[in-house]
Amino acid sequence: MHEDILRVLIDEATIRRRVSEMAREIAAAYAETGDGITIVPLMTGSIIFVADLVRQLPFKLRIGLVTVSSYYGRSTTSQGATLQGVLPSLSGQNVLVVDDVLDSGVTLRLVQNVIRQANPRDLKTAVLLRKPGAGPLPEPVDFVGFDIPNEFVVGYGLDFDGLYRNLPQIAVLRPELLTKNAMAC
Ligand code: IMP
Ligand code: MG
Repeated sequence: MHEDILRVLIDEATIRRRVSEMAREIAAAYAETGDGITIVPLMTGSIIFVADLVRQLPFKLRIGLVTVSSYYGRSTTSQGATLQGVLPSLSGQNVLVVDDVLDSGVTLRLVQNVIRQANPRDLKTAVLLRKPGAGPLPEPVDFVGFDIPNEFVVGYGLDFDGLYRNLPQIAVLRPELLTKNAMAC
């Protein structure tokens, strides 16, 4: 195990099984729709998840990457995110937004608002992880991989300060690392 990891929260086999189940849930939801599905992964945290997911979706789809600046190098959640990059044409498309983790929901609501202005036929959202901090507003997600405790996690695409995205597991970092790096920012 990586020396910076306190403990593994979700191991590789469990992630693989659940992502396959999610692919089946998503495929079932679009079974009637046919083609015209555009996947919009939020960079950079969703890269590994979306790569594993799309290879198990048995229909024609397009991928349009979007970057959301939510926080930089800190373990706090976003308070005011902004969208960067150019969205692909979404008018009349069935759009599936894919993100790594739903925490407060600020990021996903912002992205959903921007996408709705592009007149998609339908808009759904999938997240790998959901934390309990989502609050009183309606949940902005249709598909959830795992409900996890309110801890900062890394791996399988999720980072701290840009690092640890390549860990194959989802893991909790040693707390002294979070404090040290946050103070250095
Ligand atoms: P929200 O806007 O509060 O829902 O935060 C969601 C965003 O915060 C995610 O897209 C991540 O970029 C980031 N984030 C929240 N919790 C974690 C975590 O535990 N590890 C890594 N990134 C996180
Ligand atoms: Mg993110």
